[in-house]
Amino acid sequence: MRAVVYHGPFEAAVEEVPDPRIEQPDDVIVRITSTCICASDLCIYEGRTAAEPGTVFGHEDLGIIEEVGAGVIALEPGDRVVLPFTVACGFCKNCVAGATGSCLTAALSRAACGAAGQVALGPHAGGQAEYLRVPCADFNCLPLPAGTEHESDYVLLADVFPSGYHGCELAGVAPGDTVAVYGADPVGLMAAYSALLCGASRVFVVDDVPDRLARARQIGAIAVDAADGDPAQQIRDQTDGAGTDRGVDAVGYPFAAWTGDRDEPASVLYQLVQTVRPTGGLGVPGSCVPFVRDLVDEDVGQRMSLVAIGALFDKGLRLGTGQANVKRYDRQLRDLITAGRATPSFVVSHELPLDEAPTVYHDFGQRSDGHIKVVLKPDAG
Ligand SMILES: NC(=O)c1ccc[n+]([C@@H]2O[C@H](COP(=O)([O-])OP(=O)(O)OC[C@H]3O[C@@H](n4cnc5c(N)ncnc54)[C@H](O)[C@@H]3O)[C@@H](O)[C@H]2O)c1
Ligand SMILES: [Zn+2]
Ligand SMILES: [Zn+2]
Repeated sequence: MRAVVYHGPFEAAVEEVPDPRIEQPDDVIVRITSTCICASDLCIYEGRTAAEPGTVFGHEDLGIIEEVGAGVIALEPGDRVVLPFTVACGFCKNCVAGATGSCLTAALSRAACGAAGQVALGPHAGGQAEYLRVPCADFNCLPLPAGTEHESDYVLLADVFPSGYHGCELAGVAPGDTVAVYGADPVGLMAAYSALLCGASRVFVVDDVPDRLARARQIGAIAVDAADGDPAQQIRDQTDGAGTDRGVDAVGYPFAAWTGDRDEPASVLYQLVQTVRPTGGLGVPGSCVPFVRDLVDEDVGQRMSLVAIGALFDKGLRLGTGQANVKRYDRQLRDLITAGRATPSFVVSHELPLDEAPTVYHDFGQRSDGHIKVVLKPDAG
């Protein structure tokens, strides 16, 4: 089959790889019809991870079931399904409690998270390919209505829609709340959209990229351009000096925030603490790594990211972090799409054939031409 394969820094190719096959009785094979490129794929592409050459990209996948293992109960060939980026077992302590983003078995290692097409999160191949093997299929596959309707909405159920929603859940967003979201790429835009779906009264979205801020305005959020000055101050000025009830960090560190001059690892979290009113809630879906790659202290070695714990304590803030529990939210978010109450595809900027992946990775890496969310189509010529 054809797949998008990592060859080394800044090298991605579409090439023939072996077809996946059923390996366990609870596996299915899915023929992929839509698969997105994510910021974390760009981290692999740019050589910022330990990914081995030969890795197949992709963890935001939707398709039609082609083949089912002998132990699969609720799925059959022809079913249309979307797959969670956090592969989960459904039976471990965390999965049973709904924390499927912290599955204890799916990584087959000590990592408390399994994911497709990622580094050190289990032997799960990526889905930027014609076919994908899905383990623990009855649990992981989310059935979708037959046909092709809402394809570019449903594919966002694999990651960014539930991940943005997760940011709101972690922050404790409730009807009437004011909410600040840092980052206006797919996860931040989905967090803002989710906050509005949850009944937030006003949602502020901070970034410094005009076309992303424009999409925030398009859904009824208030765009805050970081280029106009301290965003926390801008938001306090618009909330009678109080700050917002909730805040979401959809930037993370260092992959998203690192642009050379943004060299303070916890700067977004620090801004969030300044932005949210005392006793408010903070959600951090933005991925943070434990050590700061480029900050090395002669005595200490690699420096850790620092959190403004004093200000966090003084304000009595609550803080939630972690990988999205996709399976906890995906059914309800699917049903909002099916009922016409949610249209997350407003973040999709490009839909292209899979064969164009090498060019797209190059352009997306440059963030040229308004790339926000790119959907690849393996069956398009
Ligand atoms: N927790 C999860 O399960 C989960 C799932 C998906 C993605 N993520 C993480 O969420 C984060 C966002 O993902 P994405 O795909 O939207 O990422 P992205 O890298 O495409 O977007 C980050 C956005 O933040 C903006 N930004 C950078 N520094 C900023 C600052 N100081 N203030 C305000 N905005 C700033 C950038 O301009 C960009 O628009 C990443 O860290 C990603 O790894 C986490
Ligand atoms: Zn993703
Ligand atoms: Zn589990």
